[in-house]
Amino acid sequence: MAVLKLYTYPHPVLRKKCERVGKVDDNMRKFLDDMLETMYADKGCGLAAPQVGVSKRVIVLDYATEEDAEKKPMYLVNPEIIWKSEETIIFCEGCLSLPDQRADVERYEKIRVHFIDYYGKEQEILAGGLLSIILQHEIDHLDGILYIDHLSRLKRTRLLKKLEKYYEEKNEK
Ligand code: NI
Repeated sequence: MAVLKLYTYPHPVLRKKCERVGKVDDNMRKFLDDMLETMYADKGCGLAAPQVGVSKRVIVLDYATEEDAEKKPMYLVNPEIIWKSEETIIFCEGCLSLPDQRADVERYEKIRVHFIDYYGKEQEILAGGLLSIILQHEIDHLDGILYIDHLSRLKRTRLLKKLEKYYEEKNEK
């Protein structure tokens, strides 16, 4: 397994619409393993392929909370939201591609997702809570959408200014 290079805002690969995966083979499984390792190395709870520079519809995540003793990794290929609840939920989100920033984002509280798993089998899950939020955030990435796109123009501008400052300070070190 290997830790992959992470692409951060404003790299154009983050804005590209990803292509569907034809088949989950050994090469794809190796990529999924590498993505999960990269996510853990960067202390994220979700990672989408464009964040490692690959425009394919692939995400990995871990929805374990601090109370969970075990890791809860998930691999999703070609994930598709097939149902959304009317109720929404607000959660303070972050993203490895926008380091050191967070903002409140409104999402659907529950969603049903169809996807292909690590072994190439078709699956469907009903997700709520943290898992639902992570899934919506990561599936957005596959269409070139970042969580800042869900903010008001004012909040987005403010966050991007802070991000710019963060990059500048990091370069000075
Ligand atoms: Ni993200």
